[in-house]
Amino acid sequence: MFRLFPRNNKPAQDVHFVNIEVDIHAHWIPGVDDGSPAMELSLKMIRGLAGLGFKKLIATPHIMHDHYGNHADKLKKAFQSVVDAVSKAGIEIDLGLGAEYMLDEGFMDHLNSRQILAIGDRYVLIEFPMNKPFPLAHRFIEAILQAGYTPILAHPERYTYYRKDLETFLELQEMGCHMQLNLLSPTGYYGREVAVWSRQLIERQMYHFAGSDIHHPSQLSQYSFDPSGIRFLNTQLLQPV
Ligand SMILES: [Fe+2]
Repeated sequence: MFRLFPRNNKPAQDVHFVNIEVDIHAHWIPGVDDGSPAMELSLKMIRGLAGLGFKKLIATPHIMHDHYGNHADKLKKAFQSVVDAVSKAGIEIDLGLGAEYMLDEGFMDHLNSRQILAIGDRYVLIEFPMNKPFPLAHRFIEAILQAGYTPILAHPERYTYYRKDLETFLELQEMGCHMQLNLLSPTGYYGREVAVWSRQLIERQMYHFAGSDIHHPSQLSQYSFDPSGIRFLNTQLLQPV
């Protein structure tokens, strides 16, 4: 594989996420979004993530207004089918359910219905549109905070528009929005700009959490960035709340 940062990336087989313990961002529930298409692949992903050192895996299927038709009840049922399959397969790992919420026209309905799939009891994983600045970010984040949750912005390094608008990015963080690093970002998996910016944000200690954001078992061999030495809050989520 082509590596942008060969000096800093270890061979994937040498990387272990034992210091993170809880994966808070993943797409291994089959057939509900652009992640795993089938249970067999879901089990491969879960087995592989356990092999990387995670002790607890939280699934975060996309919830978007225009795609997938996902909502809390549907995802709880789909999650239970994975729990049953993992148990049957004899894989030893704790599983949890959250969601990755696109902040779109459907989000406030989810928030107001109190049917939010939170991580732990208070964290809500959110995402913005990828390609252009998102002027409504402040208003959504304020609403999430007002509702008593702490938003976690998934992979801010992938919103490359914030490189030119660091002030807005810092404002969101100061409001109380936490930030989650994708563990594939510093490897160059999403391209050079994302890799460079993720490393700058790591140096500035901007991240609170890390996650795999795994969509397919082929990604298991790509986790070559070694996060040991970085302090993340993921381990706090190991205890049930
Ligand atoms: Fe994701």
